[in-house]
Amino acid sequence: MTVLNQLKDAYSKAANVEEKTHALQQLLAHCGYLYYVKDAPEMEDYEYDKLYRELVELETAHPEYITSYSPTQRVGAKLTGDFPKVIHGRPMLSLSNVFNADEVRAFGERVRKELGHTPEYVVELKIDGLAVNIHYENGLFTRAVTRGDGKVGEDVTANVRTIQSVPLYIENAPPYIEIRGEAYMPHKEFQRINEEREAAGIATFVNPRNAAAGSLRQLDPAMTASRNLDFFAYAIGMEEGANIHSQKELLEALESYHFHVNPHYTLCHTIDDVVERIAYWDEERHNLPYDTDGMVIKVNSFEDQEQLGATVKDPRWATAYKYAPDEVETIVNDITINIGRTGVLTPTAELEPVFVSGTNVARATLHNGDFIKDKDIRIGDHVLIHKAAEIIPEVIKAFPEKRTGNEVVFTMPTQCPICNSPTVRREGEVAVRCSNPHCPAVEKEKIIHFASRDAMNIEGLGPSIVESLIRYKLISTVADLYKLTEDQLITMERMGKKSAQNLVKAIAESKSRGLGRLLFALGIRLIGAKAGQTIAQQFPSMDALMNTTEEDFTHIAEIGPTMAASLVQYFKEPHHRELIEELRALGVVMEETIEVPQGDELAGETIVLTGTLASMGRKEAGDLLASHGAKITGSVSKKTTMVIAGEEAGSKLTKAESLGIRIVYEAEFLELIKDWQ
Ligand code: IVH
Repeated sequence: MTVLNQLKDAYSKAANVEEKTHALQQLLAHCGYLYYVKDAPEMEDYEYDKLYRELVELETAHPEYITSYSPTQRVGAKLTGDFPKVIHGRPMLSLSNVFNADEVRAFGERVRKELGHTPEYVVELKIDGLAVNIHYENGLFTRAVTRGDGKVGEDVTANVRTIQSVPLYIENAPPYIEIRGEAYMPHKEFQRINEEREAAGIATFVNPRNAAAGSLRQLDPAMTASRNLDFFAYAIGMEEGANIHSQKELLEALESYHFHVNPHYTLCHTIDDVVERIAYWDEERHNLPYDTDGMVIKVNSFEDQEQLGATVKDPRWATAYKYAPDEVETIVNDITINIGRTGVLTPTAELEPVFVSGTNVARATLHNGDFIKDKDIRIGDHVLIHKAAEIIPEVIKAFPEKRTGNEVVFTMPTQCPICNSPTVRREGEVAVRCSNPHCPAVEKEKIIHFASRDAMNIEGLGPSIVESLIRYKLISTVADLYKLTEDQLITMERMGKKSAQNLVKAIAESKSRGLGRLLFALGIRLIGAKAGQTIAQQFPSMDALMNTTEEDFTHIAEIGPTMAASLVQYFKEPHHRELIEELRALGVVMEETIEVPQGDELAGETIVLTGTLASMGRKEAGDLLASHGAKITGSVSKKTTMVIAGEEAGSKLTKAESLGIRIVYEAEFLELIKDWQ
């Protein structure tokens, strides 16, 4: 029987409210572990949500049964004042650095001489985040402290508690143990937050490390919780009775305590193996979903570690190999302005093309006017660039010493470069916006967003078609889309009768996507695809929504006060109301529609999609399969009955093979769905 089933069993057999509450706390904590640490959930979201609600009800009725490890207790009250200082019982040392294979070998030689034998090493990824020390007393999470200067750190207990992969209780733990590791922000989260901040006109984070640091130092733990940080455990601090003898045993113990341990560690028997691992990760690290800035080489045996000892600053039994940062020099040929759908003017550096971390880079975002001013970046400057979070090209700094005197200082335009309306900068925001709500550049971006996959999902209406439609003066707002006729479309270049028919059909179909998607499609500040769905479930009609107050919105758990204010503000504007009425008159559905399943051919199948399908996007394929009764999940487990594999399918495919799960490649998949589209 799986642990989950044992816990479910205990819950169903609970004899009284107290037992029931505690069984539910343990059951849901285990679900959290399977979801956040193992990345292999065994329970449906729906069932989890239901049980979670039940736990909240039980705890509300019986607060005496709330425990500090209950999953409901992750987000605590706001803090007042500063983070208290805490002295570390055992200092949190830093690491000496090495920069090439010769230095790695010299480190190995020093270690070998001192010990009198060749030790084993554990080589780990060096995660680029913030070191945190977490105290556990009798298994209970009691305190979390930042590294600080190594001797004294800051008490960030309330914020670290919100990190879902950090256990609030560890079973079979020694009476006292401190777990050390790295709090970090995954790339996906970094991008999501920056997109949100950009839309809101708040300064974007420069890199995931800064974003993680900022998130840990929030006075409101709810804010930290919304940032979805993660934590990799890799060391212990003070402890009583842990009985661990090597780094490998330590990592295994941390796994058994249900911490997230980075899986990419290796036990090396020779220093050549160490050098080989480092070379491997130099390339491979760019494919990881989080930032690393090197590798950490640790002598495995604790006895050997003790013999080697430490200097005041760092241990002699470990060192950090630092990868040369992927930073490249180039020239800013020009600074251009991009206008987003919220009307924000974003300056972009047009660069002399250079090769960085695997791709050619010719443009880099300069975020906003303040960023350019602070870094004093001028047109014509030599600059250093890199890729933030391995994807987003960014200017690190300019080289003023290389100036010839011909460089031009850039200032943000006072007029919109597209419609010449004055630009405005709202109080407290760094963003500069076009003041014209009907600016053609803004309308264009709004239409592209409106048609996009997670919004109204209008197939065949990508950015280039939108651009052409505007150029041919066939549309200027999203409402115009629903007035387009085939006859109008075929007047356009490269638009045949069949494509025109398809486009008109796709546009018509999008009318019934429902309120949730429509809310996202309208591009209301801070309202993402998920928020749109959540709101539509609570307020299933547009009319109800348009008359809702800020206070009513904040009763929805996932809607914070700034989102609520943004919604109310949106519906206040007369031109937004006019647009909604126009869409309604054109037949766009203003209620949440419940999608009717098209068939049940796949009932009972649990399907995982992996890799890239040539014929359709992964979400589209998933929606199609789900509409025929399949359950779609994100990770392969024993419950998976079918894996649909596209190009470059990776570890999920390997895992499916090892579990003997049916694998369906694209040709067979197309065969399967051939009559459904
Ligand atoms: S071991 C005495 N392991 O690197 C051992 N540190 O420059 C100290 N770091 O402050 C730490 N990944 O923030 C260790 N796998 C890893 C690490 C790691 C990242 C950071 C940590 C530490 C800094 C030392």
